[in-house]
Amino acid sequence: MSALEFPKGFLWGVSTAAHQVEGGNENNNWFEWEKQGRIHTGDKAGLACDWWRNAEQDFDRAKQLEMNALRISVEWSRIEPREGVFDEKALLRYRELVLALKARGLRPFLCLHHFTNPTWFERQGAWTADNAVFLFERFTERVAEALADVCSDWVTFNEPNVYTSMGYVLGEFPPGKRGDFVSTVKVMLAMLRAHAAAYRVLHRQRSDVQVGFTVNLQRFAPENPKSLADRITTRFFEDAFNGSFVHGLETGVLGPVRAMWRTVGEAKGTYDFAGFNHYGWMNVAFDRKRPADGYVRLETPPGMRVGDPGIRATYGGFDPNGLALIAEELSRMGKPIYVLEHGIPDKADKLRPWLIARAAAAMHQVIKKGVDLRGYFHWTLVDNFEWAQGWGLRFGLIELDPVTQVRTPRRSAELFAAIAKHNALRGEDVQRYAPEAFDDCFPAKVAGQVPEAGQPPGGVRGVTS
Ligand code: BGC
Repeated sequence: MSALEFPKGFLWGVSTAAHQVEGGNENNNWFEWEKQGRIHTGDKAGLACDWWRNAEQDFDRAKQLEMNALRISVEWSRIEPREGVFDEKALLRYRELVLALKARGLRPFLCLHHFTNPTWFERQGAWTADNAVFLFERFTERVAEALADVCSDWVTFNEPNVYTSMGYVLGEFPPGKRGDFVSTVKVMLAMLRAHAAAYRVLHRQRSDVQVGFTVNLQRFAPENPKSLADRITTRFFEDAFNGSFVHGLETGVLGPVRAMWRTVGEAKGTYDFAGFNHYGWMNVAFDRKRPADGYVRLETPPGMRVGDPGIRATYGGFDPNGLALIAEELSRMGKPIYVLEHGIPDKADKLRPWLIARAAAAMHQVIKKGVDLRGYFHWTLVDNFEWAQGWGLRFGLIELDPVTQVRTPRRSAELFAAIAKHNALRGEDVQRYAPEAFDDCFPAKVAGQVPEAGQPPGGVRGVTS
């Protein structure tokens, strides 16, 4: 039976984030947020997946699932619990974790900032404060001194676009501001500057590290392609949400939306790889009846598959072909590309096998076209604390009962392991785990024709488009 083979050395892994898995993080803004009852389910991260004490057991599971990479993040509030006071023991524990990954053949990707801020930093205005970049640079120096000799792949920020829109536009994340566009631009700018500073710190510490970023890239399309208002609104979403951070890195100017224009010359070209996280597709409509939502309505494209529903949140529709379309667009940045998150809230594991099989097929197609895509990190290994959705949404290849800490692998874990083991998507594995994806993954060849992905309805706009 047929198989879609991946280039040698392709990375198959999972991504995680400190606050979502470690447990016991009590010095950050999310701990405060949870105490204030701001999680829709009323949950708290609590012990999370108990990784601070015992990540190694889950690293063993990742190894059993044939993975060869794993992304973690460091928790700033553990390393610098009070301003200017650094905890050497915390740094040593992170060193232990990085070494534990390597000992299991899992290439560590280390992210410096994944949504959480130390409480002391949050109290002084976090990324809106004048000295934010300096403080983050100083933190990065300590982390680089402690870990750069053992870790060569670094991600500076996870999804600055989600951090700003959830925290300053939608009010779903701390600090809970709504419609605060002035702060949104200020924070985005500070993060871009901090990214550039961290890039240089890491390279000074060790010249051969690979330092990149990861942004959340969604697929937007006008609900009615014939409506000018829908098209303009869609374009604005693409530019403001998908495009701004990347535009800053490519050009040294935050943009491309005019109201965002700020020069950040030091950021231009500060990336050794381009990382992206992809979840949903959304249709965008201009809606006169919604002044409170900025006259915008977002809808799941009709007919697309959807994951479990969140509370006051939607991921839109799922179509893994988005991975191929985005990777192709990002290839203009001229650097290796990594999918650093992709997954679906799906407690019953009904769609995840389909999603994984289709993701592999889409990536294979784009690699064949010459795109330098080097790895796929699924979100995530074990069900973990899903931010404002608490324990309500489940993204794990492995199910977790957060009370008993009992883990139960889902079927999709077996499919993932089969792909990673063979470094290929094999027809027999798709037949076994996701038969509904078979025809899309292995389309019958029409004589003389190579099947092509559909044309993108939306895009990640940068300087070239
Ligand atoms: C975030 C993760 C989160 C995932 C699923 C991404 O935006 O980086 O932390 O768990 O989406 O919601």
